[in-house]
Amino acid sequence: MRSFAFFAGIAIAQAASAPTSSEDASAYSYWQPGGPGDFRGPCPMMNTLANHYFLPHDGKNLTREVVTKALQDALHFEPSLTEIMFEQALPANPLPNATWFDLNQLNVHAVLEHDASLSRSDAYFGNNHVFNQTVFDESKKYWIDDPITADQLTNSKVARQLQSRAGNPTYNFSSTVDNFSRGEILAPIVAFGDKVAATTNRTFTVHFFENEHLPIHLGWHRPTDPVTLEDVTKLSEILAKSQTLLTDSVSEQQGTQNTTHGETEEDTCGKKKMIRRGVGHFGIS
Ligand code: HEM
Ligand SMILES: [Mg+2]
Repeated sequence: MRSFAFFAGIAIAQAASAPTSSEDASAYSYWQPGGPGDFRGPCPMMNTLANHYFLPHDGKNLTREVVTKALQDALHFEPSLTEIMFEQALPANPLPNATWFDLNQLNVHAVLEHDASLSRSDAYFGNNHVFNQTVFDESKKYWIDDPITADQLTNSKVARQLQSRAGNPTYNFSSTVDNFSRGEILAPIVAFGDKVAATTNRTFTVHFFENEHLPIHLGWHRPTDPVTLEDVTKLSEILAKSQTLLTDSVSEQQGTQNTTHGETEEDTCGKKKMIRRGVGHFGIS
């Protein structure tokens, strides 16, 4: 972690007065990474909120009330949205009828944790929950603009899937995982970006992943508008659309008619351009 020493310094300065509940931490000023006996997991945001004391710093006994309040206080998530997310997380606790989970329970592979994460290695290769700079550098390669666009977030996801499928003989990525994974790549947009434009601030997003710290010192602040289920649904649809690698044909993009009779036609500038025959490459249309 690039800025670890800087944050560790803050932590040491503040350790004596570390808050005990998320209410005390509302100024975002406290931060200390998990230490011996503290639980952390594969979710960079849940780890971040525990590091900031919005969640219990030990990462244990996360109840509906605790998680709902933390996400509302820190990120302005509407409680009704967090409650849905909390319900989805409860199976991570193997106890029957559990009403809470610990952050390390999220580590179990193929319950919620999955292959091809942006910043963690696949379970097949070893540790599936601690931040991995090499993996994250691969994802970051696709974030070529600031702000990062929806297509670029998708590109990093698809690239990690490809990398994983090519090298991991146990690669698994069902449609359920795909939905979950899309929820993860849209998360930076609602926390650090512009949910109308479907973009996210690159500096804030990279800092968050690499440090598990909220980028207050870089100018970020809690989103002014609440994050709702509707926001998340809309963004998920945008990202689902951006996942296809198909585009309209050139003629559709240019608004010209396709034809099955010839191989070329003149475009509006008088240049010849290729036109598809009626059948595909091997005669299969
Ligand atoms: C009830 C609350 C939450 C739970 C139980 C949860 C759980 C998880 C789990 C299990 C993963 C690991 C999936 C994997 O990559 O294998 C994950 C990843 C992720 N989560 Fe969360 N999460 C929660 C809330 C949030 C919030 C509020 C945000 C940000 C706004 C967030 C951002 C992310 C991101 C960006 C990843 C992808 C990490 C990567 O691909 O390396 N999560 N989360
Ligand atoms: Mg994973």
